[in-house]
Amino acid sequence: MEVLTAAAQLALRAPSAFNTQPWRWLVRTSSLELHADRDRHLGAVDPEDRLITMSCGAALHHARIALAAAGHDVHICRWPEPGQPDLLARIWLAGPHRPSAGEVDLAHAITTRRTDRRAFADTPVPADLVARLRAAAETEGVHLHVVRERELPVLARAATRAASVQLADPEYRSTLIRWTNRPRWSGDGVPPANAVRPAPRRVPVRELSIDPHAGVAAGSGQDRATVYTILFGDCDDRGSWLRAGEALSAVLLTAAAHGLAAAPMTDVVEVPASREALRQMLSGSGHPYAGVRVGVPPLRAADQPATPRRPASAAIDHEKG
Ligand SMILES: Cc1cc2nc3c(=O)[nH]c(=O)nc-3n(C[C@H](O)[C@H](O)[C@H](O)COP(=O)(O)O)c2cc1C
Repeated sequence: MEVLTAAAQLALRAPSAFNTQPWRWLVRTSSLELHADRDRHLGAVDPEDRLITMSCGAALHHARIALAAAGHDVHICRWPEPGQPDLLARIWLAGPHRPSAGEVDLAHAITTRRTDRRAFADTPVPADLVARLRAAAETEGVHLHVVRERELPVLARAATRAASVQLADPEYRSTLIRWTNRPRWSGDGVPPANAVRPAPRRVPVRELSIDPHAGVAAGSGQDRATVYTILFGDCDDRGSWLRAGEALSAVLLTAAAHGLAAAPMTDVVEVPASREALRQMLSGSGHPYAGVRVGVPPLRAADQPATPRRPASAAIDHEKG
């Protein structure tokens, strides 16, 4: 049980949309259960459950990596009880496992990874690292498209359109205000120190504050060498969003383990017209789940602070008896 509790604790550091942490872990005698926490659902901003499911998928991958690095093979059943749609996964220990160096590195990256919304340095990302990111997604059954130079205007327009549609929507604005102005004790939400002030960017990043003066400066980087990627797959349903969340976690941890900065971009899939533009950009080869920008961290810039997390007691339950 301690092993499962430790994995759930480490998984609390997983990324989640607006840092909502929309999960609950239940540690049972011989299994660990991941439940979606509907009280933390983003309402009208997430009408189909894409974001809550992807966020939980990221937490699931974090727990898998924590267990692998701690020397445990696991058996996983996604949606183990058909009558309980919010019970997303059950994990059982399946015997000893010799962790690979890669798994140990990814587990280490769980505590060092940050979402970095600043402009990245103009130093190119080595091609072999881009290949590793793609392989990390593929291992989770999800494809990673690297946006070509000529496709960048499509992505930039999709992001611009997403921002204008969302910021014109009162429900989105109240959700944004709610999750970017959380009291310190809440242990969730995106604090101003993790938002970035509006600035001209090659591809706009989601504004995480209504106040244009809040947030850190985008910095001196120009995003000229930033690699923009799209996670995509064959289906567009809850099963694929859970796998997309696992792949998102795999890509972000792989990037962090290799010293790269990264940030998810899902505004471009939240707004149907932007999502459709990306689907056409993928020329019929699949459905887009999330964008991920990756780059060399901004030069001479301070490290990003960690976003808060709720205490384990608020997100991890133990089976009684
Ligand atoms: C499904 C999902 C969608 C996200 N979408 C965005 C996004 O569109 N823009 C953004 O800046 N960050 C996005 N994030 C990053 C979260 O805001 C971030 O993970 C959270 O604030 C916690 O911070 P951390 O990643 O530094 O731990 C997303 C994360 C997840 C898992």
